[in-house]
Parts: sequence; structure tokens; C-alpha cells
Amino acid sequence: MAYLLGIDIGTSGTKTVLIDEAGRMLASAYAEYPLAQPRPGWAEQDPDLWWQATLAGIAEVLKKTGLRGEEVAAVGLSGQMHGAVLLDKDYQVLRPAILWCDQRTGAESEWIAETLGVEKLFAWSGNPALPGFTAPKLLWMRRHEPALYARIQHVLLPKDFIRWRLTAELATEVSDASGTLLLDVARRRWSPEMLAALAIPQSWLPPVYESIEVSGRVSVSAAALTGLAAGTAVVGGGGDQAAGAVGAGIVQSGLLSVALGTSGVVFAATDEARILPGSGLHAFCHALPGKWHLMGVMLAAGASLQWLRNNMAPGDTYDNLTGRAARVQAGAEGLLFLPYLLGERTPYPDPAARGGFIGLSMRHELGHLVRAVLEGVAYGLRDSLELMKRLGVPGAEVRVSGGGARSALWRQIVADIFQAPVTVVNSSEGPAFGAALLAGTGVGVYASVEEACRKTIRVESRQEPDPSAAEAYEKGYALYRSLYPLLRETMHGLTSGFGG
Ligand code: XUL
Repeated sequence: MAYLLGIDIGTSGTKTVLIDEAGRMLASAYAEYPLAQPRPGWAEQDPDLWWQATLAGIAEVLKKTGLRGEEVAAVGLSGQMHGAVLLDKDYQVLRPAILWCDQRTGAESEWIAETLGVEKLFAWSGNPALPGFTAPKLLWMRRHEPALYARIQHVLLPKDFIRWRLTAELATEVSDASGTLLLDVARRRWSPEMLAALAIPQSWLPPVYESIEVSGRVSVSAAALTGLAAGTAVVGGGGDQAAGAVGAGIVQSGLLSVALGTSGVVFAATDEARILPGSGLHAFCHALPGKWHLMGVMLAAGASLQWLRNNMAPGDTYDNLTGRAARVQAGAEGLLFLPYLLGERTPYPDPAARGGFIGLSMRHELGHLVRAVLEGVAYGLRDSLELMKRLGVPGAEVRVSGGGARSALWRQIVADIFQAPVTVVNSSEGPAFGAALLAGTGVGVYASVEEACRKTIRVESRQEPDPSAAEAYEKGYALYRSLYPLLRETMHGLTSGFGG
């Protein structure tokens, strides 16, 4: 029996899992760390926090299972995407990493979009220039921190910094590299055109591997710190969305997933690199050779519900709140919620978008607000589904994962608003589990990622859409869709005039 380690460098904490080749979870560990927000809209983290959390996680899972480091066949890495980890010539970290959810690069993203134009941007990278992506962060530094910028020698993504600490190899892999805006996603290699247009030296970027390739081996010094055996293979792994999709079995075209975490993601595997210029859809390499994926990202999905709870019902449980929402009928009696509390990415790449309740009346109480939030998030995710349908992606079955998937009501609302059956699978550890499957594939425990999924992932529950809710939700969705275009100027006025 082979044992596999998966590590996911998240935004709130690092999750480490140790599984066996049948996919059984032998132990998991979670080490939290804070997010620094030195200014409104900024989000930074010290990469050393990730490394300390990784060390703690590996130690904990080895201790819990009683396994020795030598018994671990391979390590897979996953992590929050897009973050810029910057190292100088001596491999010292130059500044806290600027993260995926940092919104400071609005001007740089616009500059890239305008200078290159939609056509070149999509031909060279396959993607829109969004503020969360890595390249605009480098341009921001060039303008605002020129002295530090001049010292950059290496640019790494969060999980690849951990790879470097584990193996002393600078490397990345295609799925995470897709979120830099510097990868030619169709050809799965750095884009010389993007690098030249943005005047970013290719020497700053590490070699790009496929997600299942062995990218390095645990070094003697990392072995001493982690308890793993020196020489243990570390595979490419994947960005958290691609690795999470592997962990949920979304590895062939036709399957669609919705991740209801802090952010909300609609994810579809595709057989070729497909793009829809101007849509806010991301077109990235998948963590399987020869596969890609489409992704729509909502910034505040679970975060919207968390905001509501923290501010309107502090201390209340999510079960209690969704219980109240379940007593309200579909459509929340004429109340709509716009989930743009953190700005938005898909379908509106707009850091200045803002949220709101529309249609409030004296009839509405807390249960209506909760229901409107659950429905508003599902409407926003449907926006991504509609964009994908234009590229021929079928929405036949939706696999839901993430913290929000624990709510049967929220799952049913997604089924009703997408008008598709919703399923949940046995593996709930998401990206860390997917990274462990990629690790197993890299060292031959599985013949392919598809086989890894077949051997370890099962559908555990299925909910059908309720035809009687369809009419209310179609009407609600049409009204929801009309709101952002109507309110855009107002939202921008509020963010620029009143410190919003
Ligand atoms: C994906 C994205 C987020 C982060 C957060 O594009 O920005 O999913 O990876 O974990």
C-alpha cells in the first residue's frame, strides 16, 4: 500500500493530508495564519508563515498515523493561486507576498488590457488582465516600489515557494502558472510575447512542469526539518482550483463543479484551450496533461454569508441561519442580493463593484436576508455557467464542494437555479486530496489522474432540481442580471466618493 502526502497552502491556513492509495484519509492537519491588510483592498502574507504551517502539518500527520517519512511515496503541492513571492539574488524574500485577493492593481490591469488590446491578450495568454493575477502585481511594484523591484531575481507562486523550501528547486507547473497572465495557456509554456510586452525578464520565472511530473526531491536539509526521507519525489501539483477539481473528480469534459468556499468558483474541464474574450472567464491549463479548464470566479460566495452572520446575527450558527432561510419560499418574497462585497471577477471584472439588497420591505426578516444571500450567490455563479454554455460546455450535472456544500438548502438552491442535478462526492479535503492524487500519479501509483479519481472518488448524494421552483428562479435571475449594468455607475460613485 502506497502512502501519499498532499499539502494545500490556503489563504487562511495550510491543510496537510496523508492518504493511502485507495484514497482513505489516514490523517489531516490544518494550521492557520493571518492575512495582513495594510490598506483597504490590499492582502499580503509572509511566505514564512506558509513554511512554518507546512512543517507543523507534516509533523502532525506523520505523528497521527505513526508512519515513517520513508513510507511516504510522494508529495503533491497545491495552493492559493496568483500570489507574487519575490526573491532576491540570494533567494531572500523581498517583501510580503501580494495575494490573489489583493485589489491594488486596478490601474495596472487596465493598462495591460488597453496597451495590448483584447485580441493580443487572449491570443498570447488566453485570459483577461484581472487585478488578482500575478503580472499586474509586478507592474505595480515597478511603479510603486522601484528599489525593491530592481532587486527581484525570482518570482514564485505560493506553493512553489514551499516546493523551493522542500527541494531547493525553483519550479512551477502549468495550472498555477496559468494564473500569472505570463503563460501561453494553449501551448503550456511561458509566453515570450507577454513577457516582452510587459518587459518582464523570463529569467525571473522558474521552469514549467506538467502537474504530474516530478519537479524535484526532498533535500537533505528539508528532510531533517520535516521528517520526510531525503529524495522523496515532489510532483508539480496544481493551483488550488485545478487540484480541487482533481480531488472532486472533475477530470473530463462534460463535468462541471461549483466550489462554495470563501470565493465561489464554477469549473469545467475541457479538451482544448477555449476562450471567450471579454467575458471574465478564466481559461487555464488543467492539472492533467492535454486538458484545460474554464473557470468563473466570484470573490464573495461563502464570504457573503459569513459577512451576514457576523453583522446581523453574530454568534448564530450557519445551520440555524439556513434553517430560517428554508422556511422562506424561493425568491425570498421579492428580495435580491448582489454578492459583490469584495468587488467582482466573473462576469464583471470590477474591483469597484459593490453588494446590496434590493427590494427590501417591512415584511422581510432575517430568514429572507439569508435566503436572498444564498440565492444571490447562486445567481452570480449561474452567470459563469451561462458564459461557459456559450463555449459549448454542457451543464448536465454539477458537483458541489467547499464549506457551503454542507448546507442541503444551498445545494438545492444551486440545483434549482442551474436547473441541473447537484451531486456531492466522498472526498471533502479538496485541493490537498487532489494534490496527493497528482503525487501518486507522478510516481506510478496510478496509471493516470483519471485512474486515480476512479479508484478513490464516489458520488455520495444527488439532489434533483425542483421543477416548481424553476419559474420563480428564472424570473429572479433575469432581474438579478439587470441590476449590475443599472447600478454600475452608482457603485463606482460610492467607491470613489465615500471611501467605499
Ligand atoms: C483562483 C483564485 C482563488 C485563489 C484562492 O483564480 O483566485 O481560487 O486561488 O484560493
